[in-house]
Amino acid sequence: MGQETFVYEFVGKKLTEGSFQWSAPSNIALVKYWGKREGQIPANPSLSFTLTHCKTITRLDFQLKEISGISFDLFFDGQSKEEFKPKIQKFFERIRPYCPYIDDYHFVIHTHNTFPHSSGIASSASGMAALAVNLMQLEQGLNPQMDANYFNQKASFLARLGSGSACRSISGAVVVWGAHSEIAASSDYYGVPFDGALHPIFQDFQDVILLVDKGEKKVSSTVGHDLMHQHPFAQQRFEQAPANLSRLKTALETGDLEAFIAIVESEALTLHAMMMTSMPYFILMKPQTLQIIEHIWSFRSQFQIPVCFTLDAGANVHLLFPKAHKTRVMEFVQEVLAPWCQQQHFIADEMGFGAQKIDL
Ligand code: DP6
Repeated sequence: MGQETFVYEFVGKKLTEGSFQWSAPSNIALVKYWGKREGQIPANPSLSFTLTHCKTITRLDFQLKEISGISFDLFFDGQSKEEFKPKIQKFFERIRPYCPYIDDYHFVIHTHNTFPHSSGIASSASGMAALAVNLMQLEQGLNPQMDANYFNQKASFLARLGSGSACRSISGAVVVWGAHSEIAASSDYYGVPFDGALHPIFQDFQDVILLVDKGEKKVSSTVGHDLMHQHPFAQQRFEQAPANLSRLKTALETGDLEAFIAIVESEALTLHAMMMTSMPYFILMKPQTLQIIEHIWSFRSQFQIPVCFTLDAGANVHLLFPKAHKTRVMEFVQEVLAPWCQQQHFIADEMGFGAQKIDL
């Protein structure tokens, strides 16, 4: 489906005022998005697991106004947040060609994350996704004929314009973003639920986020994506990612944990290898990140328990494993891994299904 499908056309209905509230989860990429082209088009397809507990809850109040133009107030945890406004302003400007009705309203946005702001967990994915679904609910109010499929696709399309990875936080437990020949209906414009038959071993996967460094990232994802433009290994990386996605698809369908682990850990280290080999180069891992990885590898080989790790664009480690091993793995987390975390903090999350409407 082309982008023109997402241009809203006036159907004759106007809403004067109202409020909606939605939650949208964070997601963790297994095949990484790192590198993009103009217009938030990913340089390669990516695949993620949707999370449950790490999420953003956003309420959108809207009121019809006289003067046309983008206008909003933003509150984060109940406090007015001027410093977050430029990002939202830019988001509104980007989505305006597709949602011209936003010019008709004044919006008040109240947003809150279930995870601490300073946890090093990116809030842009869940935050942009939560805002996008609220706006789609407004659009559905203007166009009641809209079906659920269009709602989700356009919500993902809009979220992508806010932050690429946000398009994988709308709907589905496993989501692919970026055109890939083996994923039906996959698109560079929005995320689609993984179309394969997910093997039961992956259906309730756990993700314990080990909070190594809760500070602000020194290099933003936006800068990191940009550095892929003149990166010496970019071409190989953009060929490797779709090949890894093909192999991961097979592993997810057959329940091949060994292949899953190899692909997922290699993707995580490749992401950081890209950072270390860009110019300027940078390192987001901390010594504790490597300590945790070493412990995960020892635990896996000693007890033959299929745990593995992935990394996002930071020092935190995501520990992934099937639910069947939860009791033993949580003992390992408490005793061995937590001491390497900042203030021993970690978040036990698990696979979820996407954004949810919250009745007001
Ligand atoms: C390492 O989605 O945060 O988490 O599109 O510039 O907002 P922007 O980038 P963002 O990048 C995420 C990068 C990643 C990998 C991933 O989630 O696929």
